[in-house]
Amino acid sequence: MIIVHGGAGDWTEEKLEIAKEHLIKSVEIGLEILNKYDDAISACEEVIKVLEDAPVFNAGTGSVLNIFGEVEMDASIMRGDNLKAGAVAGIRNIKNPISLARKIMEETDHVFIISEGAEKLAKTFNFENYDPITEESREKYKELKEEIGKFDRFKKLSEFMQKYPQYFIGTVGAVVVNSKGIIVSGSSTGGIILKLKGRVGDTPLIGAGIYANEYCGASATGIGEGIIRTNLSAFVCNLAKFGISVQNAVKSAIDYLTKKVELPAGIIALDRNGNIGFYHNTKHMPVAYYENGKIHYALKFQDIKASS
Ligand code: GLY
Repeated sequence: MIIVHGGAGDWTEEKLEIAKEHLIKSVEIGLEILNKYDDAISACEEVIKVLEDAPVFNAGTGSVLNIFGEVEMDASIMRGDNLKAGAVAGIRNIKNPISLARKIMEETDHVFIISEGAEKLAKTFNFENYDPITEESREKYKELKEEIGKFDRFKKLSEFMQKYPQYFIGTVGAVVVNSKGIIVSGSSTGGIILKLKGRVGDTPLIGAGIYANEYCGASATGIGEGIIRTNLSAFVCNLAKFGISVQNAVKSAIDYLTKKVELPAGIIALDRNGNIGFYHNTKHMPVAYYENGKIHYALKFQDIKASS
C-alpha cells in the first residue's frame, strides 16, 4: 500500500492538473518497487524522488526561497518496525534531500544533520552538486519580496498567507507499507516562502513532520510551526497504536491543530493493514493512493467520502 500527497494549500487548477500526473506516476513507481522487491524504504524514497524532481511541488527542484532568495531544503524518512529515522535540514545543493535522509538513517549513527554538515556529508556520499532553484521560484520570490514590505514579517504570517494563499503550498510526503507490515514514512520540502534563514519547519522533525511505528505511518504538510507545536504525526500514530482507526486519528489530529494553533495543515496516514487516512483544513490536498487494485486520486477529503 502507498499513499502520497503533494502539499496542503490553495492550488490553482492548472497546477493541480500537473500535480495529479506526478502523484499518480509516483504511486506507480512505488508499486513497481513493492511488487518486485517488497522494499518499503526504497519505495518511499523513490516515490518522494519523483515528487522532488517535479518543479510543481515545493520540494527538491522548485523549492521556495527564503528571505534572502536562497534555497534551504528539509527532508526525513522513518521506518516503523525499528523506529530508525534519518533527517536533513537547510541543505542547498543536492537534487534529492530524501536520499540523503535515507543515508543518514542507514549509514550514520545519527538521526538529524543540518546545513553545512549535511552538505559535507552529501559530498562524502558522492551526491552530485545540484542547484534546485528554478526560474519560477526566483520570480515568485521577487513578486512576494516586494509585497512583504507591507507586512510585519515576524508577526503577520497568517495575514500574509490569507492574502497570498497560492504561494503557501507545502511539502510532499508518502507512507508505504510492504507485505510484512513494515511501514515507512517520508517527507521533503523547501519550507515556507520568505522564511528566515536557518528556519526549520516540521518536515525533518521526527514526530512532527513524519512518524512511523508498528501500527501506523504518517506524513504532514502545511505551516510547520503549527505541526511542530502539535507534534502532529506522532499524535496520529499514537492514536492508531491505541486502536483508533487511521481516518479517525487524522481527523482528530487536524481538528486539534485547527482549534489550538489556527494554521493550515494536512496529514496522510496508513496502518499496517493498509487502511488509509487523510485529512486537511485547507482548500486542497492532492492525494494519490493504491486501494483495491487501483490507483485513486483525490483533491479533498470530501472526494474520497463521496466516492466510497
Ligand atoms: N511543512 C513545511 C514547512 O513548514 O517547512
